[in-house]
Amino acid sequence: MRIVHAASEMFPYIKTGGLADAVAALAGALADKGHQVAVFIPGYRSVLDGPHVAGATLSHKLKVEMGDAFLAGDVYTLNPRAGVTLYLICREEFFDRKLPYWTGERDYDDNDARFIFFQKAVVELLRLTDFKADIVHCHDWQTGMLPVILREAERRYEVTLALKTVFTIHNIAYQGVFPRKAFALSNLPEELMTIDGLEYYDQMCMLKGGILYADRVTTVSPQYAKEIQTPEFGNGMDGVIRTRLEDLHGLLNGIDTAVWNPAIDASLPARYDADDLIGKSVCRGNLLKEFGWDAKFTGPVFGMVCRFTPAKGLDLILGAKEFFAQKNCRLVVLGAGEKKYELSLREFAATMPNKVAVCVRQDERMSHLVEAGADFFLMPSLFEPCGLNQMYSQAYGTVPLVSNVGGLVDTVTDIDANSAAGTGIVFAPEQEKFEAGLQRALGLYAEPAKYAAVQRRAMQRDFSWTKAVAAYEQLYTEAL
Ligand code: ADP
Ligand code: GLC
Repeated sequence: MRIVHAASEMFPYIKTGGLADAVAALAGALADKGHQVAVFIPGYRSVLDGPHVAGATLSHKLKVEMGDAFLAGDVYTLNPRAGVTLYLICREEFFDRKLPYWTGERDYDDNDARFIFFQKAVVELLRLTDFKADIVHCHDWQTGMLPVILREAERRYEVTLALKTVFTIHNIAYQGVFPRKAFALSNLPEELMTIDGLEYYDQMCMLKGGILYADRVTTVSPQYAKEIQTPEFGNGMDGVIRTRLEDLHGLLNGIDTAVWNPAIDASLPARYDADDLIGKSVCRGNLLKEFGWDAKFTGPVFGMVCRFTPAKGLDLILGAKEFFAQKNCRLVVLGAGEKKYELSLREFAATMPNKVAVCVRQDERMSHLVEAGADFFLMPSLFEPCGLNQMYSQAYGTVPLVSNVGGLVDTVTDIDANSAAGTGIVFAPEQEKFEAGLQRALGLYAEPAKYAAVQRRAMQRDFSWTKAVAAYEQLYTEAL
């Protein structure tokens, strides 16, 4: 099949969260299956200045209609691996900025224009190159209008650009809602800006476009597909979701085992596998040393790596100060995001520097070291569309503590609920239940043989994209 992916992130070029990992790994896994894959991402400054685009060439110059104007764009192309072509959609005015979506304080004022430009540029390139896609697969709100922009271009130019479109919701909480006037930049027919179309409470919603106009709608775990049909998790979109139930599928993400595999992970100080965990203790010692602690500390080490946003359950961590003060353990948190959490987590660490450390930055190497060096990984998310870290944790023999939501439900079995198959500790995202989970972790750690059995069982699970990709192939085939 000829498959196009359009997304705002792709690892290793640009990553703020799991979207980047999922897009990169899915594209790669499809190419490995013999499909011809094209991926479109914006050419942000960090992409163009980064180390991964050395071989990129300027392949196309575009003129993109945006309302009354035509805006120029450059397209750089490279082939990161066999079967994958990467297209970088560039325009300095929109993408030559330090961060992809926000200043670090607030969202950019022109995110509507930036991502309408991106989506229209993708469609324009498909037209100019006569790409003839079987599937155009769009990810999250930044590409939500692409399916309808594509069909409108087909109508206008009397061509077929793609046979079917797929829209994947990686997180329904981010919706791309903009003032009504943004709609004019899309040059779409006015009748689409109604309650049955892109309008959302008198504003324009890009995510809604993806849900309504793609041929198939997917989300990143079966459990989240059920949750987003409810007001509790639907973030106001549950009604729109319920209009597409026949075409809605929850397909579980995989993990890229070329990147997240402790047996070959070059970023670690030592490598290991389920048969020989000596390398894991080396990583553990290194992690402790990085924070100035004794590498031989024998109590449990808890790790956490996440975007600093309320959804990740950071208030539960902050609410458990007493627990960490009283118990003989260590906690390492790596992340960046909302200033409020950066400050309060730093304060937390400052009150017990011998036990708690917070590392506020984006740091790929450190994220691997935390996964490898910790004994337990914390994900007390309030909601979690899929979550990748709990799968990375299991692959790295680090027992995950997760809340009972979204993809966490689909990927972690509680050790007490099922002692033969359990690979983690599952709880409701409430203070008391979270702390009971922490307490259960201490109990497990005090029984080395039991802990080791859980660890090994977790490491033996197959979360690879090699397996996960089959569901997408089936979805595409069925759609076609
Ligand atoms: P989400 O996409 O909601 O952020 P996921 O669990 O799907 O959640 O994916 C998060 C990804 O981002 C993981 O690969 C995690 O390691 C990574 N990550 C989050 N924060 C950081 C950080 N500060 N430094 C490095 N990697 C990070
Ligand atoms: C989103 C979700 C996360 C998911 C990731 C990749 O960022 O928040 O749960 O794992 O996308 O699909």
